[in-house]
Amino acid sequence: MKSLKIGILGATGAVGRQMLEVLEERKFNVEELRLFAGTRSAGSKIEAFGKEWTVELTDTERFAGLDLLLGAAENDIAKKYLPEAARMGVQVVDNSSAFRLDPEIPLVIPEVNPEDVKLTKGIIANPNCSTIIALTAVNALHRYAKIKRMVVSTYQAVSGAGKDGIDELYNEVSKLSEGGELGKENFKVFPYQIAYNLIPQIGGFDDMGYSSEEMKMQNEGRKMLHDDKLRVNCTCVRVPVVRSHSESINIEFEREISPEKARELLKDAPGVRLYDEPSEKVYPMPLLTSDQDLVYVGRIRRDISAPEEEYNRSLTLFCCGDQVRKGAATNAVQIAELIFK
Ligand code: A2P
Repeated sequence: MKSLKIGILGATGAVGRQMLEVLEERKFNVEELRLFAGTRSAGSKIEAFGKEWTVELTDTERFAGLDLLLGAAENDIAKKYLPEAARMGVQVVDNSSAFRLDPEIPLVIPEVNPEDVKLTKGIIANPNCSTIIALTAVNALHRYAKIKRMVVSTYQAVSGAGKDGIDELYNEVSKLSEGGELGKENFKVFPYQIAYNLIPQIGGFDDMGYSSEEMKMQNEGRKMLHDDKLRVNCTCVRVPVVRSHSESINIEFEREISPEKARELLKDAPGVRLYDEPSEKVYPMPLLTSDQDLVYVGRIRRDISAPEEEYNRSLTLFCCGDQVRKGAATNAVQIAELIFK
């Protein structure tokens, strides 16, 4: 790989720090790093690639000369800075949801639709974390039998809400274990106590009663699979897990596919580890899949509730993946590899 000048917007957050680690692990040839954040962290130091780098206050002028800018900040910050970076000739890969549904901007999972990278006009969007994990898990099955409809329930880790989400869970657990009580002042990231609880809301609700997080699976799935008829019914739940999202996925396919065929396909699927021997207690769990890049898939079985004519076209499975890594940082870095390697 040629040497690159790489910037990270939001470098001090959970995803930004993970991006830096993944760049090191995947041996990017970094000529220069520019780490951008807000006023809270500007001036702090971060070690990477054997050097210490000073975090800079974000300013578009400082993007000049970069080959690649990875976005790991919230939507409003992404919208404020990244289009200008692209206009300056910097290739942007952004993890926020700001540009994901823009028809001019490719949305890419390297295992699913790598060819869409070529359509970039400066920005490529990284999909929603649960969508990345689900589509990486089912991609090989989709290619074989074409997915018509999915019913998904997610069990999403607190790190999906950034570093502050992780801190909130730890602070609640530590306060409760010391015999303390929690009040509204403790709930800054999540609307309720998340320790020893779960919350069936991620994002705001629409008129139909779906949360914004729930609609991402259908909207982003349609864009990446190039199928605007794909139907997804999703329920997103925040759970007191630190890392790794889990998902129960029920699928109706266009063509027949058996659980045995699904296992055979998933055994060799890129980005996937088949982990499916329930009688031996072998199934995906979030602790197993944290701090690594594969999406584990198991509990593969028929949907016994499917109507008779659809039974042979139905599957149910369970998958887990580290959403800070594959669901965010690693996927973004893999997109950069498609462009620069
Ligand atoms: P900072 O550390 O200065 O707040 P997370 O989602 O994990 O909380 O990370 C958010 C990232 O976005 C952090 O790196 C944070 O930097 C950065 N950030 C927050 N506000 C701004 C801003 N106004 N301009 C640029 N970066 C920002």
